[in-house]
Amino acid sequence: VKTVDTSTGDVELESKKPVKVAVIGCTGSIGTQALEVIEKDKSRFEVVALCAGQNVDLLEKQISKFRPRFAGIAQPDLAGRLKKNHDRLEVATGQKALEIAATLDEVDLAIIAVVGFAGVVPTLKALQAGKKVALANKETLVAAGELIMQYAHLGRNLLPIDSEHSALFQLLKGVCPGEVNLLGITGSGGPFRNAPKEVLSYVTPQEALKHPTWNMGAKISIDSATLMNKGLEVIEAMHLFSMDLSKIRVLIHPQSRIHGLIELNNGSWLAHMSEPDMRLSITDSLYYPDVPPRSINRLDLTELGKLEFFEVDNDKFPCLDLAIKSAEIGQSMPVVLNAANEEAVYAFLYNKISFTQIPRIIERVMNDHQVQEVTLDNLLAADNWARKKSKECIMSVER
Ligand SMILES: NC(=O)c1ccc[n+]([C@@H]2O[C@H](COP(=O)([O-])OP(=O)(O)OC[C@H]3O[C@@H](n4cnc5c(N)ncnc54)[C@H](OP(=O)(O)O)[C@@H]3O)[C@@H](O)[C@H]2O)c1
Repeated sequence: VKTVDTSTGDVELESKKPVKVAVIGCTGSIGTQALEVIEKDKSRFEVVALCAGQNVDLLEKQISKFRPRFAGIAQPDLAGRLKKNHDRLEVATGQKALEIAATLDEVDLAIIAVVGFAGVVPTLKALQAGKKVALANKETLVAAGELIMQYAHLGRNLLPIDSEHSALFQLLKGVCPGEVNLLGITGSGGPFRNAPKEVLSYVTPQEALKHPTWNMGAKISIDSATLMNKGLEVIEAMHLFSMDLSKIRVLIHPQSRIHGLIELNNGSWLAHMSEPDMRLSITDSLYYPDVPPRSINRLDLTELGKLEFFEVDNDKFPCLDLAIKSAEIGQSMPVVLNAANEEAVYAFLYNKISFTQIPRIIERVMNDHQVQEVTLDNLLAADNWARKKSKECIMSVER
């Protein structure tokens, strides 16, 4: 690191202390890729806390490799094994563990890679405690964006990992806010992009989990198949970039090489292109504002062939419109959309409902909700209410 003495102009080299990191959701797709990035630069990063849901085997391997001082596991009955096998490790369980990990005194950076609404409280508490947050969990900004952004400054203490938002963040750095006409978010279209609408009632979880481009966790893979993922990303972008909903456009781009686009008022477009590899946006966020290391996975433009863009078929995939409607209504409605979606997605994965019943359940729950103003207590209550209501709807559904 170079530091300049302003009185003399002398440049001195100073060794940097490692960034102390908590990885919340360390056993998942994003969590393991984040640890892969960290492992390559042990002089820069030190893992001090790891939190998982139930994959205690992988968590134990990670503990042995990274030697954190704290570990969290969602399931309380798995804590005994961690304590027995790692004597100096501090262990906590349940939701509280995520909050403790994200706010430990020594933590500089919390990577929020847990899935679902479980990301909200640790993200909020980390920001309130003055930590930097690298945020992969999109449900957090969907459910509590208004609240979170009261404590977050993009680029200062909040860095997006979601690839589209990481792309837009980089593009926006070179542009005056008044110049932007539209933000473009791309999506592959998911595994059913070319399937006729009629077959969607019969698709299986295994078929829906087969994403054409990315290898991701189960929940986001189903969100990608229903296009709810794009809806969540529109709300995420609205909060992150303080952008009006009408100025965010979703484009289906099957090649998945352009991740974010900006249309300027003068009619020109800027695009962010790369190989689809989450390690790129993870690396950018972990190193920001420093220059990230050279990428191992480079895009060869001459091998690209065509780049296509299509409109979303909203009739076939109604989830995007539901997400936009929830954001237009605002207040506690997006948290209800998110909770109903989470419940419906897991019900589909467990073969309790069909693929096309996912949006129907979300719509029914949203229609029954009386919106409340945004406070943490109201959001937690609305999340709870929406989950109960969704479960009732799921029980009443006949397949
Ligand atoms: N995967 C991607 O490429 C990608 C891209 C952009 C954004 N995202 C977002 O990043 C987040 C993570 O996605 P993912 O694909 O990595 O999901 P994933 O593979 O399912 O991993 C989820 C992680 O969260 C942990 N977890 C789940 N519930 C928990 C709980 N109650 N308490 C503590 N830990 C819990 C899981 O632990 P166990 O496995 O031990 O149960 C796992 O470590 C999501 O919000 C997703 O939308 C993902």
